Amino acid sequence: MKARTLFSLSSLTVVAALAVLEPVGLKRGNGYAIEAKATGDDVCAGSEGLAGFVHLDRRDRHIFFWAFESRNDPATDPVVLWMTGGPGGSSTGIGGLVELGPCLVRDANSTISNPNAWNNNATVLFVDQPANVGYSYSSVNVTGVDEATDDMHLFLRVFFATYPQLQDRPFYIAGESFGGTWVPRLAERILDRETSGLSQVVASTTSTSSVFAPIQLRGVLLGNTQVEQADQWKGFYDTGCTGAQPLFNATACTHIQLQAARCESLLPVCDRMHYDQALCAAVLQYCREESVFFIVEAGLNPYDFRRTCDPERFPNCYQSLVDAEIYMSSERVRRGLGLSIHSDDRPFVLENYELSVAFTQNGDVGTSTSDAVRYLLDKDIPVLIYVGNKDWFCNAAGTRYWVNNMPWHGLAPFRAAPEQPWYYDGQQAGWSKSYKNLKFVEVFDAGHMVPMDKGAEAVAMVNDFLFSQ
Ligand SMILES: *[C@@H]1O[C@H](CO)[C@@H](O)[C@H](O)[C@H]1NC(C)=O
Ligand SMILES: *[C@@H]1O[C@H](CO)[C@@H](O)[C@H](O)[C@H]1NC(C)=O
Ligand SMILES: *[C@@H]1O[C@H](CO)[C@@H](O)[C@H](O)[C@H]1NC(C)=O
Ligand SMILES: *[C@@H]1O[C@H](CO)[C@@H](O)[C@H](O)[C@H]1NC(C)=O
Repeated sequence: MKARTLFSLSSLTVVAALAVLEPVGLKRGNGYAIEAKATGDDVCAGSEGLAGFVHLDRRDRHIFFWAFESRNDPATDPVVLWMTGGPGGSSTGIGGLVELGPCLVRDANSTISNPNAWNNNATVLFVDQPANVGYSYSSVNVTGVDEATDDMHLFLRVFFATYPQLQDRPFYIAGESFGGTWVPRLAERILDRETSGLSQVVASTTSTSSVFAPIQLRGVLLGNTQVEQADQWKGFYDTGCTGAQPLFNATACTHIQLQAARCESLLPVCDRMHYDQALCAAVLQYCREESVFFIVEAGLNPYDFRRTCDPERFPNCYQSLVDAEIYMSSERVRRGLGLSIHSDDRPFVLENYELSVAFTQNGDVGTSTSDAVRYLLDKDIPVLIYVGNKDWFCNAAGTRYWVNNMPWHGLAPFRAAPEQPWYYDGQQAGWSKSYKNLKFVEVFDAGHMVPMDKGAEAVAMVNDFLFSQ
């Protein structure tokens, strides 16, 4: 690995008894390497895990992951990849330690075991991506979603090749927020590679496809995601200005109403004229400032409008996120993750804001991924779209406008289907409807991060989805 091993794993060994996820020393393949160490319950209360890097020679990428076996039966349970949004949010730090991992941060120096972890019945893989987020790093900046998708596709092939026992398990990709871009793009990539007519022809005539075995994609989960902004934008007025207790006053709502109309006609420029990145960036900035971000100046938490957030602290509206960053950065935890602790090592990056700005400026944040969701649906891949109904950014009303308007072969019957009460433990916990392989769930009393606010309901919903296929 040339001089790049500076930030690779130290020789510290943790004795652990994982059934499937065995530690590997630096193991090289053609164009890549992987290394992984067992992690103990000193860094994740009550759970052992596996942390390491997939090193990709192409574009000098070093992708950090932290994986946890199913608490039930790792040899037979499905595998779930979790992708936090941003773009630029760490999956290990945010998804793992604040939402759905086997342990959650209690304070900046400790964790508690999470009874509602998504690895109760599935092996869960948290990957810091793209490079230069979390503990992942690269000397070459990631230019956009296409490159990030390339990296993740290769990451998965290397990971499954290293753990062949997981290769034939049903595989799911879940994501949140900007995960509405990551997840459909990656799923589309995998499906195209594994099932397209061209791939079949290649497989039947050459032996190159035998290098990596197929990835068994069985479904995707999209939680409070941004997928189709032109449709979703309509939800800001509904969320802020209707109902018994609107969030904003009449003056503000008149403004939102006017801007909503304008942005509905402006935002399609991001797809229609994707070649002009600056145009999309300018439109997105205008629309965000005029109809989205004033919630911050109003002192509300845009991830959960029931809560307040000091505008000075935004976007750090949750102490748990601050704690997670300090926790992951500490020398004790770095050691526990098997990371080397040289003073010149890169810090842990919970949110890479420069990357987020770069992806906004290149138009990738404004671009719809409805085409990819449609591709998945039309190929009969199960899709679960869930949304916490106290989120402002990716609100329930906007999600409804999008799912009821997304073109796929089941659009008309899906749109016509009435929503039914959705139950958890005998109580109505939301609304739901489905048609064929598309399911929509609105989760009551949850913000942007449903697994954090409604952990028991979330894991029940996820297990229901994973095991009903
Ligand atoms: C999930 O795990 C629990 C606890 O191990 C087990 O009792 C249950 O049968 C599992 N559910 C499924 C659907 O496998
Ligand atoms: C942090 O936690 C570790 C292990 O639980 C403990 O040994 C250490 O004293 C704690 N440090 C602080 C500053 O609380
Ligand atoms: C309405 O809300 C806006 C934004 O929160 C605030 O600046 C303004 O003072 C309010 N106007 C009235 C009449 O309350
Ligand atoms: C990568 O991005 C960072 C942050 O925007 C910037 O400071 C740096 O110059 C970039 N590096 C290259 C090689 O473009």
